Amino acid sequence: DLYNFRQIGYDTKVHGVIGNPIGHSKSPHIYNAAFKSVGFNGIYLPLLVDSVTSFLDTYSSPDFVGYSYTIPHKEAGLKCCDEVDPIAKAIGAINCMIRRPTDGKLMGYNVDYLGAISAIEERLKGLKGTNHASGSALAGKLFVVIGAGGAGKALAYGAKEEGARVVVANRTYDKAKELASKVGGGAITLAELENFRPEDGMILANTTSVGMKPRVDDTPIPKKALKHYSLVFDAVYTPKLTRLLREAQESGAAIVYGTEMLVNQAFVQFERFTGFPAPKELIRDVLARNA
Ligand code: ATR
Repeated sequence: DLYNFRQIGYDTKVHGVIGNPIGHSKSPHIYNAAFKSVGFNGIYLPLLVDSVTSFLDTYSSPDFVGYSYTIPHKEAGLKCCDEVDPIAKAIGAINCMIRRPTDGKLMGYNVDYLGAISAIEERLKGLKGTNHASGSALAGKLFVVIGAGGAGKALAYGAKEEGARVVVANRTYDKAKELASKVGGGAITLAELENFRPEDGMILANTTSVGMKPRVDDTPIPKKALKHYSLVFDAVYTPKLTRLLREAQESGAAIVYGTEMLVNQAFVQFERFTGFPAPKELIRDVLARNA
């Protein structure tokens, strides 16, 4: 029941996820089920692509309207856009491309960071005592990002956009400094992170692979430092409960799982593809069933 062939016709809008490999992608399951549930006449395919340029040249029909990008084509995808969202440009990678209906131009976006940031904000708004009457839940918060690679950049730019003060902690200090200067924030090394506590109630986001299976005993920050954080996010999602998140929870912080970033960025892409509000429960169910 992955594809709903009965609805395919001359005006069906074609979408897909561009990557290599692509066989294990859950995206076709998510989007086809979600398209169907809101009555959107679209289809979403796994697209095993070697060259993004030649793929886009070949499939230039106006009905090929939306793509997700995954490893290793996020940077190549950006180069093929006619216009790129400023944050995606700053990050240097896209994960979503839309063909603009009015003029056929290819528009590039990075919604990975939106997924993480919106998951964090939702969790913050749910915390007792948080004033969320107006504006972003992150405004004015001190937001510490561990890592300065693609995901680190995405979180740092996203947090800055929401009005947080950003500090980048990275193993390689030069990369922390470079990213920090771009977002107008501070830079520290991973070693310094242990004793970094300018204030309490900070937000922490790990974007490195530290703690990922099979090295589940690793963590990027000692437990005793976690008491200064009110919320901890870990981009690692295998395992779901990393050592970092477990210790954060034990230290009294709210936690946001890496899987939430995946789920939330699917909501955003769905809305960009279709113009319909995302069927959130259905998308969560599909992801859980295909885990
Ligand atoms: P991604 O696009 O997923 O962010 P990346 O661009 O390769 O991946 O970036 C990996 C990040 O994780 C980097 O910040 C890297 O630190 P360095 O800049 O010092 O390389 C960090 N990282 C990876 N493995 C790490 C480890 N074992 N300990 C600490 N940091 C690590």
